[in-house]
Formats: sequence, structure tokens, C-alpha cells
Amino acid sequence: MRLEDILFSQGFGTRRVCAGLVQQGHVAVHGETVTDAGEFFDLDGLHFNVQGTDWPFKAHAYLMLHKPAGTECSQKPSTWPSIYTLLPAPLRQRPQKAAVQGVQAVGRLDQDTTGMLLLTDDGQFIHKMSSPKHHVPKVYEVSTKHPITPEMVDKLLAGVVLEDDPKPVKAAACEAVSELHLKLTLTEGKYHQVKRMLAAVGNRVEGLHRSQIGALSLPADLMPGQWRWLSQADLALLKP
Ligand code: URA
Repeated sequence: MRLEDILFSQGFGTRRVCAGLVQQGHVAVHGETVTDAGEFFDLDGLHFNVQGTDWPFKAHAYLMLHKPAGTECSQKPSTWPSIYTLLPAPLRQRPQKAAVQGVQAVGRLDQDTTGMLLLTDDGQFIHKMSSPKHHVPKVYEVSTKHPITPEMVDKLLAGVVLEDDPKPVKAAACEAVSELHLKLTLTEGKYHQVKRMLAAVGNRVEGLHRSQIGALSLPADLMPGQWRWLSQADLALLKP
């Protein structure tokens, strides 16, 4: 693929902007500055550098973000900063066939929820991961206001009815880790589901953190606000 098209596909701006970046000497491929925007490169294992930042070529972008508290998952947030401001511009600008641009969050977390959020520009992946049919487990660490009783755990496992939803929802797994700390696994993602489930058993969520999706855990060295690419091994751990 031509270098200008490569940069365009990875979100570095219009083809004209990308050609300009190359012609002005801002782009290096495999360590060497390239100034011909029309030069062809094999995409397999391609790494390039734009204005001092290294980028791997990715046909599709898959990443995880450690969502900090006080951020919204919306592109157009109402009160808090958007999680998308935590990503570099090329990830937000990757061209897509649909009207949307850039990577999109796979589901949403509340403003005050922290933890693992996946983002991608692969619509099929979003569909697969979000569809209740695929039962991808998501593990939440829940801090509660009131002590967790064995009856609460039993009810969460047996199924609770949420106000606007006649069908009971149940936890796939639920374990009291301490008096005020619960580990809850869900395979669906209804609006405020954990908070509503805890309210339904007479408790209240004080803190919520998503630590795992599928068999993939949030790495301890990925700090709140940081993101990283998903490897092939990570993606395999997410397979429903
Ligand atoms: N359940 C909630 O209540 N909030 C979240 O952010 C995620 C799951």
C-alpha cells in the first residue's frame, strides 16, 4: 500500500494531510525517514513513526482502556470528560465505512465506574462482544454500603427483578470477598445493571470496578487513564 494511504487508513488525517506529513519528513518506516508519499510498503508487520511516535499498522484497531472515574463513555459527554479524550487523535480519526469515525467503546461503563473498557473499529467484534447471545462474562468488583449477607448472594444468583424489566436477571457468579466487597459476574449488560441488582436486594453500590472481560483481566500495570493494544493472545482470551 502507498505510504499516504497507509497513514490515511490509520487515522492520520485526510490523504492531503498524510502526504504533507511524509513530504515534510515527519514519517519514518522501519527507522528510515521516507519523503515519497507514494512509496509502497508491505503491510505485514509494518511499523512506522510519525513525529516521534511509533505506530504498528493495524487492519483493525483493538485496544483496552483502564477507564478512570469521572469520565463518560459518550462521544458527546454531558458533564464529565469523554473517555475518547484519553486516546491519541489517530485512534479517534480512523476512517470507517459507516458514518462513525474512529474506535468505539464496546458497551459503556457509568461515569463513576472504573476498569476495563474495550474499544475497536471492528463493528462485528462490537456486536459479538455485546450480544447477550454470546454470554461473554464480565467480572465486577463491587464495594457496598451495607454488609453483604448470604441471602443477598443467594438472591443475586437466583435472579432479581428490576423495576422496568419483568424478566429476572441473575449473576453468573457471585462471591462475597469481604463484608463490604462482592465479586459479581454478569453475562449481559443492561443499563446500570450492577447498581440496580444490588438495590433490588436491599444494598447499595459505593464503588464499581470491572476487572475482567471473558478470560482477559485488566493488567495491574495499566494505570487509570492508560490504554494499550490488544495482542492476538488477548483477543483469544475474549472469544466467547
Ligand atoms: N453496572 C452498572 O451499574 N454500572 C456500570 O458501569 C456497569 C455495570
